[in-house]
Amino acid sequence: MSKVRTIDAGEIDAWVRQLGVSFNFEVAPGLPEYTLTTIDLDRSWASFDGDRIVGTLRSFETPFTVPGPREVRAAALTNVTVAPTHRREGRLTAMMERDLRDSADRGEPIGILIAAEYPIYGRFGYGPAAYSARPRDRSRATARRTASSRGTSSTTPSPSGTACARTGC
Ligand SMILES: CC(C)(COP(=O)(O)OP(=O)(O)OC[C@H]1O[C@@H](n2cnc3c(N)ncnc32)[C@H](O)[C@@H]1OP(=O)(O)O)[C@@H](O)C(=O)NCCC(=O)NCCS
Repeated sequence: MSKVRTIDAGEIDAWVRQLGVSFNFEVAPGLPEYTLTTIDLDRSWASFDGDRIVGTLRSFETPFTVPGPREVRAAALTNVTVAPTHRREGRLTAMMERDLRDSADRGEPIGILIAAEYPIYGRFGYGPAAYSARPRDRSRATARRTASSRGTSSTTPSPSGTACARTGC
């Protein structure tokens, strides 16, 4: 069975390269170093074939507003990939189990993600939460209100993808 563990800083090149293989992008010079400044290594998982990284998955903590309204800590999932040569071997499942268990141990009551392919995630307890969203940048809204009083206006973009959530991580 595949080995799953979190990566260390020396493995970031191979980890980002695996992301590029599965999401079909070329790794730009400097991207691995930049990635290292934006991720939490304790939550960045790899699936190994021998010494080779063939799968990636990571999560990060983010504030999440629930009815009340009240803010709780959610585990946001991202960078989910398995190399085409190693799919359907249970590698995603193995990384997911480790990350969800750690999230529960940290006391994060909700898991969220924006899925490119949402049918993947139902088996892990996620369900559709929103099919589209229109984020409101309050600082721009404030600026717009101020600007419109001067006779100008602007619009905000909508992201694509399906937002999913799971409770009781
Ligand atoms: C999605 C992906 C990570 C799955 O990795 P994997 O290691 O093959 O997954 P597993 O072997 O753990 O499969 C777990 C289950 O999910 C199912 N599954 C896997 N990919 C699926 C997909 N695209 N759609 C629906 N179900 C899928 C498997 O059939 C398996 O179910 P089973 O146990 O009933 O057979 C991999 O196909 C991939 O990297 N795809 C390209 C990148 C991508 O789409 N990432 C997700 C972005 S939201």
